[in-house]
Amino acid sequence: MAGSLLKRFIVMAPKVVFVLGGPGAGKGTQCQKIVETFGYVHLSAGDLLREERAKPGSQYGELIENYIKEGKIVPVEITCSLLENAMKVSGQDRFLIDGFPRNQNNLEGWNKTVANNVELQFVLFFDCPLDICTERCLQRGAAGSGRTDDNLESLKKRFNTYVQETKPIIDHYATMDLVKTIDATKNPLEVFEDVKAIFKAKGAGDS
Ligand code: C5P
Ligand code: MG
Repeated sequence: MAGSLLKRFIVMAPKVVFVLGGPGAGKGTQCQKIVETFGYVHLSAGDLLREERAKPGSQYGELIENYIKEGKIVPVEITCSLLENAMKVSGQDRFLIDGFPRNQNNLEGWNKTVANNVELQFVLFFDCPLDICTERCLQRGAAGSGRTDDNLESLKKRFNTYVQETKPIIDHYATMDLVKTIDATKNPLEVFEDVKAIFKAKGAGDS
């Protein structure tokens, strides 16, 4: 009782875990499991952009579609405001931010507008070679993901963006000792065992 009263009066910074890795590394699959087990809110930058694209009359719909098809990274002002809004609307205080920050522009935008108001717990990096990632995305496309970018042509561009732009962001966080690397080549249940160990070590699940 006293504890919960106290919590209400101390404004705690929301906790954030960034989830990164190549396309098809299993970020979304693992995030779902983390949500079920540890009660974080999953915010996928890609999903939020696709939702925005689908809104009738969206000012950014066409721009987003062009970026997604080309595997390029949408300007951070759009992505960051979608993330901030989703955080606010959720009313929650622990977030898995999946697929962000994806490049230097994402990183700078976040640092300028949000970083100081949250606690970045760590960066969860799903490490997976590109051949396995390709196979998974093509399977996802064949199984009817409905995504306009789960085809070989878009995938080549997405991987290029990942290697050129996203990997350096992961390396940047590694220099700050914030990266937890997971071997993402294993099957989802095995991968989740490693993920669980990391969250448990962080005290997640304790309230
Ligand atoms: O993470 P996901 O594979 O769903 O992202 C799909 C696409 O959404 C990316 O290839 C990119 O075009 C766009 N995206 C972005 N900025 C992010 C995350 C995703 O532009 N931070
Ligand atoms: Mg995803």
